[in-house]
Amino acid sequence: MYLDPTWRVLTIGDGDLSFSLSLADSFLLESPLLLEPNAKGLAAKKGSVTASVLDSEALLLAKYQDCAFNELKQKGVAAYTGLDITDASTWADTLKGQFDALIFQFPLIPSFTSKADFERAGGLSTNLLNRRLLRLYLKHGFDFFLDPDGAQLALISSKDLKPYSQWDLECGIHLDLMTQQKQAVQLLGQCPFDQQRFTGYRIRNVDRDKQIRGTKGTTYYWSVKPAPEALMAQLTAPTHSVGEPVSDRYCNWCHTGPFASKEDRQGHLESRRHQNMQSLDDDWRAFLQV
Ligand SMILES: C[S@@+](CC[C@H](N)C(=O)[O-])C[C@H]1O[C@@H](n2cnc3c(N)ncnc32)[C@H](O)[C@@H]1O
Repeated sequence: MYLDPTWRVLTIGDGDLSFSLSLADSFLLESPLLLEPNAKGLAAKKGSVTASVLDSEALLLAKYQDCAFNELKQKGVAAYTGLDITDASTWADTLKGQFDALIFQFPLIPSFTSKADFERAGGLSTNLLNRRLLRLYLKHGFDFFLDPDGAQLALISSKDLKPYSQWDLECGIHLDLMTQQKQAVQLLGQCPFDQQRFTGYRIRNVDRDKQIRGTKGTTYYWSVKPAPEALMAQLTAPTHSVGEPVSDRYCNWCHTGPFASKEDRQGHLESRRHQNMQSLDDDWRAFLQV
């Protein structure tokens, strides 16, 4: 993961907050005393981290015995609890337009814990709910949290494993996605996520005080404007355009190819694995039309 030490970073859905703590300790420029007065009121300092989690404070403290909430507080890092990136009513006004980069590590919707939760989801499949979460993260990130005059970056780290690999981060999540200011949200590229570089970071399971095995991860970068050269030098550009995951030679959904011939390609398109991705994509495109 490439991070500029001068960025004002907001983490989203940071489980036990160990990622935010690691960022604050190792990557950023200043001692991260968060908000300082400026002409607009209170603003995030350059080279600072602000943390957020979906859980309420009580749930966070009950769920993760060793969460970093109090440690962040002691260091002067603000940690917002109960921040649901899909629900504007949970966002503090002080967070509006304050950040250069948002980071959502291994997003995943929580499991349903009641029939009411399930019904609130309106019958959507978990694949659609996860894709919707990622898309709303991008949309709301650019419309609300990111500073229009800043670096304007939204990052997601994810895994090349099911269910993460079935969300089509490279070609589907930002399909026709526009900000309120009518700017197209574009994938700049990706780079490996190396957990070892983040001392103390424990990748958490979505619902429990349990760590996810350290499999290989990738961090994706989206923006609405060209990125600085220093960032682009670290990223691998997307191999396929948005909405076009299958080229003549390669299937980006299934990481299959190069195809030896037209027949080989056709055989792949008819395979069960590919058909499954096709059906998830059909559902997603139908969902986006509603
Ligand atoms: C697999 S866990 C990863 C947790 C943490 N980011 C990490 O890397 O250890 C997925 C996280 O996504 C968060 N999440 C799911 N839906 C969310 C939403 N609507 N808004 C904010 N966070 C959300 C969950 O609370 C959970 O902490």
